Amino acid sequence: MNILVTGSRGQLGSELHELRETAASHRFYFTDLPEFDIISAEAVESFCRGHRIGAIVNCAAYTAVDKAETDVKQAFTVNRDGAAVLAGAARACGALLVHISTDYVFDGRNCRPYREDDPASPGGVYGQSKWEGEEAIRRIGPSHLIIRTSWLYSAYGQNFVKTMLRLGRERESIGVVFDQVGSPTRAADLASAIVAILESFDPGKQYAETYHYSNEGVCSWYDFAKAIMAAGGLSCDVKPIETADYPTPALRPHFSVLNKRKIREAWNLEIPHWHDALLKTLDSMMRGT
Ligand SMILES: NC(=O)c1ccc[n+]([C@@H]2O[C@H](COP(=O)([O-])OP(=O)(O)OC[C@H]3O[C@@H](n4cnc5c(N)ncnc54)[C@H](OP(=O)(O)O)[C@@H]3O)[C@@H](O)[C@H]2O)c1
Repeated sequence: MNILVTGSRGQLGSELHELRETAASHRFYFTDLPEFDIISAEAVESFCRGHRIGAIVNCAAYTAVDKAETDVKQAFTVNRDGAAVLAGAARACGALLVHISTDYVFDGRNCRPYREDDPASPGGVYGQSKWEGEEAIRRIGPSHLIIRTSWLYSAYGQNFVKTMLRLGRERESIGVVFDQVGSPTRAADLASAIVAILESFDPGKQYAETYHYSNEGVCSWYDFAKAIMAAGGLSCDVKPIETADYPTPALRPHFSVLNKRKIREAWNLEIPHWHDALLKTLDSMMRGT
C-alpha cells in the first residue's frame, strides 16, 4: 500500500521515517513544508490520486501552544482546515486517515484517566483548533482513526526532554511544575503503534474511531524532569513549583492522563512504561543512534 506521511520532519514524522523499513511491504511518501502544504486542497488531492494513496498519516500540525494564543488564524488554518483538507482527500481516494490529536482537547479537571468519549473542553487556542480538526474529520467522514497523545518527545525536534537536558547542563537548579500531571509519550513508541495499525487494518472496512495513546504510568512535569536529570547523569537540582509560579500564555490541563485501554485492546498493543521509554530514548541519544 502507498502511504502518505505529512509533517514528516517533525518529531513523530521523523520517528515514522526511522521505521519505514520495518514495514517494507508499504511504500511511504514522506512530505513536509514547504513542498507539501496540507492546506492546499487541490495539490493534496491530486497527490493522493496520482500516487494511489491507501492511507494518510497526518503528523503535520501547528504545535506552538503558547504562540497559538496570538497566532490564532494560523493555528486554525493548519490544525482545523488542514485536517479537513486531508479528510476530503482521504474520502475522495478511499484512503484511511490516521490523524494525531492531543490531550489539550480536555480541560484537565478529571480525576480519572480520560476516555475517548469524555467531553472535550479545550482551555486554549491550540486545543480548540485541534478539537475542531477532529470534528471536521468526523463530519467529512473518510475512514479514519484519530489518535490523541500527550507530552510527546523524541531525539528529533524540540521538546521537554531536550530542554531539561540543556538546562541541566547550564544550571545548578531549576523549578518545574508539580501540579500538572499526565503521561509522557516517546514518539518512537507512538510511531511503532501506528506502523502496527497500518500493518493490520482492513482496507475494505470503514473506520470511524478515536483512540488515546501515551506511554503507561503517570507523573508530574517535576517527576519527569527529575527522571531526565537522573538518567542523563546531571546533578542539577530540580525543585517543585506551582503552575501559578510559572505563568504561560496558554492554560495547560492540570490532569491529562489518557486511558489507553481502547487502543491497546483493539490493536493488541503493548505500551511501554514512560520511565522505561525515557531510558531508551536517552540511551539512543547518548549513543547517537
Ligand atoms: N509535541 C507534543 O507534545 C504533542 C502533544 C500532544 C499531541 N501532539 C500532536 O502530535 C502530532 C505530532 O506532533 P509533533 O510534536 O511531531 O509536531 P512537530 O514536531 O511540531 O512537527 C509538525 C510538523 O508539521 C509541519 N507543518 C506545519 N504546518 C504544516 C502544513 N501546513 N503542511 C504540512 N506540514 C506542516 C511542521 O513544519 P514546520 O516546523 O516548518 O512548521 C513540522 O515539520 C501533532 O498533531 C500534535 O498536535 C503533540
